[in-house]
Amino acid sequence: MPAARAAEQLQRSIPKTGETIPAVGLGTWQGFDVGENAAETAEARDALKTLVELGGRVIDSSPMYGSAESVCGRLAAELGVQSKLFVATKVWTSGKQAGIRQMEDSMRKLRVERLDLMQVHNLVDVTTHLATLRDWKAAGRIRYLGITHYHSGAHAELERLIKPGGIDFVQINYSLAEPEAERRLLGVAADRGTAVIVNRPFAQGAMLDRVKGRALPEWAREAGCASWAQLFLKWILGAPSVTCVIPGTRNPRHMADNLAAAVGPAPDAALRRRIADHFNSR
Ligand SMILES: NC(=O)c1ccc[n+]([C@@H]2O[C@H](COP(=O)([O-])OP(=O)(O)OC[C@H]3O[C@@H](n4cnc5c(N)ncnc54)[C@H](OP(=O)(O)O)[C@@H]3O)[C@@H](O)[C@H]2O)c1
Repeated sequence: MPAARAAEQLQRSIPKTGETIPAVGLGTWQGFDVGENAAETAEARDALKTLVELGGRVIDSSPMYGSAESVCGRLAAELGVQSKLFVATKVWTSGKQAGIRQMEDSMRKLRVERLDLMQVHNLVDVTTHLATLRDWKAAGRIRYLGITHYHSGAHAELERLIKPGGIDFVQINYSLAEPEAERRLLGVAADRGTAVIVNRPFAQGAMLDRVKGRALPEWAREAGCASWAQLFLKWILGAPSVTCVIPGTRNPRHMADNLAAAVGPAPDAALRRRIADHFNSR
């Protein structure tokens, strides 16, 4: 029942404004880099349609992801869902003018007049781009600004940048396989009012490979999880400072599976420990 499910999607608030967004979104790296391939484009269209039908809104892209921005923009227009989406992308180049050109190009490809969130990808030339992003935010060209990385080796630098308090969103790797962010970074983000987007929730799929063919424990089903993917996503959503998690896929069944993790309560500390113990014992 898509309508019923949409109303049930867990929402989290963006600390700087109180605006809410659904806690599970869609990452477009690899999955949406489909170019002109008709079969893969049809699959991506169904995944995006499923996201919106089931109440999701957040999509995350980057100029680094080949044709993904153009494909997202084209499919959102074809499906007529542009106004429903919370669109995040990134700047991934060096130099002020090159950054401006790239961001303007991304907006054309994504077919938006104003971006919901622009992030500095992997901290590339971060000081330069953050200055531009502050100007763009003041001028209303973007609604929020952020910084991203995919590796715990960058967490100290991310922490240094969010500490003064001017960063709306930080996007980081965080999962049962890569839990380092909970040592310090998640706490600092909560303290400074920085929203957290989680990338690599399945460690780029490696966690799902690790449990392939293994039965989901009965207690996981009782906790409202029908798949390993849901169990791993729910563990992430059990961290209160996580605002949104963006698993990557263009498979509509996987999209629906991931969105189901945002239905029902997020696990408490005891259940999170049980999930972690089970995963780590394998
Ligand atoms: N530095 C950065 O800013 C940065 C770095 C990395 C990632 N990201 C962002 O974060 C997103 C997510 O990270 P990621 O794509 O690297 O890794 P991920 O989300 O941890 O894993 C993606 C893999 O999981 C599989 N998958 C997804 N949902 C599934 C389900 N329900 N059941 C079974 N398999 C499932 C996908 O396969 P199928 O395609 O078959 O579904 C894909 O192989 C990216 O797409 C990107 O938007 C940002």
